[in-house]
Amino acid sequence: MNVKALKGFKDILPDETPVWRRIEAVAREVFARFGFEEIRVPVVEKTELFVRSIGEATDIVEKEMYTFADRNGVSVTLRPEGTAPVLRAFVEHGLHVRKPVQRLYTIGPMFRYERPQKGRLRQFHQVSAEVLGGAAPFLDAEVMAAAWSILEELGVDVSLEINSLGCAACRPAFRQELVAFLQQRLAALCPDCQRRTATNPLRVLDCKNEACRRQLAGAPSILDALCSGCRSHFHAVRQGLDLLHIPYRENPFMVRGLDYYCRTTFELVTDALGAQSAVGAGGRYDGLLARLGGPDLPGIGFGMGLERLTLLCGGQEASGRDCDLFVAALGDRARSFAFALVHRLRRSGLRALMDTEGKGLKSQMKQAARASAAWTLIVGDNEMEEGEAVLRDMRHGEQAALPLTFDDPLAAAAAVVQRLGVAAEA
Ligand code: HAM
Repeated sequence: MNVKALKGFKDILPDETPVWRRIEAVAREVFARFGFEEIRVPVVEKTELFVRSIGEATDIVEKEMYTFADRNGVSVTLRPEGTAPVLRAFVEHGLHVRKPVQRLYTIGPMFRYERPQKGRLRQFHQVSAEVLGGAAPFLDAEVMAAAWSILEELGVDVSLEINSLGCAACRPAFRQELVAFLQQRLAALCPDCQRRTATNPLRVLDCKNEACRRQLAGAPSILDALCSGCRSHFHAVRQGLDLLHIPYRENPFMVRGLDYYCRTTFELVTDALGAQSAVGAGGRYDGLLARLGGPDLPGIGFGMGLERLTLLCGGQEASGRDCDLFVAALGDRARSFAFALVHRLRRSGLRALMDTEGKGLKSQMKQAARASAAWTLIVGDNEMEEGEAVLRDMRHGEQAALPLTFDDPLAAAAAVVQRLGVAAEA
């Protein structure tokens, strides 16, 4: 039986992991500079957490969640995103008492039952950042600056689009105005948008269907409907971005696929990934923490898709230093010595490899080349009699004798390390 991975679930192979590590390292470094701390939360949560936060009338909750009953009959869900679990943990552990504004990030897998295509998987990975306790518009600009800096440092070219979705005071009136507009064109909208007009009309603005987009020309803009509080907040967010020299475009049609947003929302988009244009996205979600039973603190954050980032970073990169030294041993005595020596070398910090299968010299030299070893140490029973091994510089093809104390692997390892250190300096 040949069992394959599930559709939309992808292995990340050894050739690919270096770029993943680089992206994660850059993200961690940028987060540290912006004062973020790491939090790790479970991948499975009670289903109601996501229904209550993401919203019942969203695509994610309606049709994309991996939800099942556990053995005790409790409905659980593989997390489709990172915000709800982080906020759940924040409330559960009373983290608000630590400091007035908490900056948290997490990196890990998320799960959505979507139709897989380039840049869209059913298990994908996000770096996800959440700032809790700050309401100032400059914070919105700062959070966007953190996302922007990660992409800039990775050399990824994206555009920033921003919008404001208003708040509980101004959005209902806009919603009514929009519904009235949509109802006049209902017959021409796609079946999804016909349904959304009743359940989640703002989402219609975001529809990718060409026919719907044509109908939306002349649709009311939420930016014209903002209350004075939301308008001045949005104005100050733009000022903040200007101060940081981060270019952006206002996009009043950008409506996020999660219902918890209010005021500022943003997306980092590229046209290099076909239909999956968003590399990262986020926004403000004041009120969500209170709805989840926590203190009434404002929040803002973003998520970035790692698969999409790896595609933009070229997918693969040289893994760098593979192997410092390959020890080729010939004969039983030499192999026992090499076995102990390699262990000592590794403990001294070298990337050391050997063949334990008793292969001939030619095969071992091939293994050394395949491992991109910088050096090979050749030890045979004969060399041991003479008290010296042969050290070969694999890059230059030169070799020289290296006297070693074969009855003392610790001292031999020290001699090898010293010789390689001298050679590296030369
Ligand atoms: P989101 O827009 O649903 O937001 O996802 C954020 C990013 O995750 C997307 O821009 C995309 O790069 C990546 N992504 C989403 N779905 C997939 C998929 N099926 N395959 C590959 N990549 C995907 C959120 O999840 C919010 N929690 C972000 C946030 C944090 N807002 C505030 N705080």
